[in-house]
Amino acid sequence: MSDPYLTITVFRDERVLARTLAERIASTVGENPRQVLGLATGRTPVRLYHELGALHARGRADFSHVTTFNLDEFWGLPPSDPGSYRTFMTEHLFRRTGIRPEQVNFLNGSAPDADAECARYDDAIAGAGGIDLQILGIGTNGHIGLNEPGRDLASRTHRVALKASTRRSNAALFGGDVDRVPKEALSMGMGSILRARRLVLIATGKSKAKCVERLVHGPITTKLPASFLQLHGAVEILLDEPAAQLGVRGLHG
Ligand code: GLP
Repeated sequence: MSDPYLTITVFRDERVLARTLAERIASTVGENPRQVLGLATGRTPVRLYHELGALHARGRADFSHVTTFNLDEFWGLPPSDPGSYRTFMTEHLFRRTGIRPEQVNFLNGSAPDADAECARYDDAIAGAGGIDLQILGIGTNGHIGLNEPGRDLASRTHRVALKASTRRSNAALFGGDVDRVPKEALSMGMGSILRARRLVLIATGKSKAKCVERLVHGPITTKLPASFLQLHGAVEILLDEPAAQLGVRGLHG
């Protein structure tokens, strides 16, 4: 890969990818225990989160000084709802790693005023000194966080209407019932995401191959929000072989 700003690494499988990234995050946190981490939901980072939990359990990583910000949350759900992203993160990461609840930051899907909640979140990120390392997944339609493809993209944290395909891919959080998936969410904006000092996007499985190919080789367009990552100076894309199968080349992980 000749692009100095976009490093691509292709791993043999998603297990090796998750383990390698977990080791790297643990060593970054070892060097700078007060890291501010940006986190994503979705199936893709689950293995990574469990690996971080395993490192913590073996005493090989200390996350007690880390601050976290998640990308997004369903609008209309209280944090304690079993389908909320907050519940997902508690189950897969927070309770496994000793990350302190008072250092976890989340958009509140049941806040009285969406705009005020979004402004509060942007202020909280700025107040924490910005995000050092942002972990990202990618939707099959190229969304990042919940910035859906469209005619325009919001820069700051905002309220979004979810596409039918996004609601379908989130149905597992609601017992497989797509009708129970909220129609709206709050999401960090593309500007908020691009302000993170380092971005690491993970994509696995052949269903991601097309959007990954467009992200790497296509034009920057609001029709593929992930393409805006090309504007960032420090992006790493970590793939398994199926996600890289449409002509995306990278280093071997
Ligand atoms: C969800 C999340 C995104 C995530 C994406 C991919 O809707 N809000 O942050 O990157 O969809 O999900 P998955 O990893 O399950 O494919």
